[in-house]
Amino acid sequence: MSNARTRRTSIADLAAMKVRGEKWSVITSYEEMTASIFDEAGIPVLLVGDSAGNNFLGEENTIPVTLDAMIMLSRAVVRGSTSAMVVADLPFGSYEKSPKQALESATRLFKEAKVHAVKLEGGKKVVPQIKKLIAAGIPVMGHLGLTPQSVYALGGYKVQGRGEDAARIMKDAKALQSAGVFSLVLEMVPAELAAEISAALDISVIGIGAGPNCDAQVIVWTDLMGLTENAPKFAKAYRNLRAEIANGVKEWMEDVASGRFPTEEQTFH
Ligand code: KIV
Repeated sequence: MSNARTRRTSIADLAAMKVRGEKWSVITSYEEMTASIFDEAGIPVLLVGDSAGNNFLGEENTIPVTLDAMIMLSRAVVRGSTSAMVVADLPFGSYEKSPKQALESATRLFKEAKVHAVKLEGGKKVVPQIKKLIAAGIPVMGHLGLTPQSVYALGGYKVQGRGEDAARIMKDAKALQSAGVFSLVLEMVPAELAAEISAALDISVIGIGAGPNCDAQVIVWTDLMGLTENAPKFAKAYRNLRAEIANGVKEWMEDVASGRFPTEEQTFH
């Protein structure tokens, strides 16, 4: 996809990339500044993940993240971007009860944060929710494999879909496609299974810890830039911002202590 975009990425653009066999990327963002940087870099899709819980809000995992928090973060990401499609997670507790609850939550994200699509976790049990959202005109991204909102039920952040469990994930993936999702995140599944699902579906499969043969890849930005301590095995740090920022702060503190900051340049008369 070219960087010279004058409108936001659409679900038709993503469908066309699947047909052309063109791989694309999704990165998380939780506020305006990174959203504008990633948008200017040409990212087609920004995900306001509920991974904000453990990567931005200091929570242990994604479960405590509220719908109000997702709306606030998503609004900032939409404001910071002009070309990317912004997808927001429906957080734990905001959609499981009923299709009506899912529609009320997604409607708030649409109207108050002005996101362009929502993501929710789960297989056939959330198909009624997905159908309700799509009928209302809200594009939906699915999420299978390791679904972090179920971390306690799954017994930790473990690879899903090994052995006989592979058939269940394949079935769920097909059920989500039939329900109308425009794309599907597959998290922490064996590369072979992810490749089979990507080949079997017409919609784009977005991998994270799902090997190289998915249609797209998604990454948590703080993992990509080396800010996260103990990043997961599937993430690769392309920069070491943690060290970079710490060194910058230390340098500034030393300059303050020694009187080298501020200089004449930063001073008013
Ligand atoms: O919350 C999130 O950031 C996600 C991605 C890791 C896919 O769901």
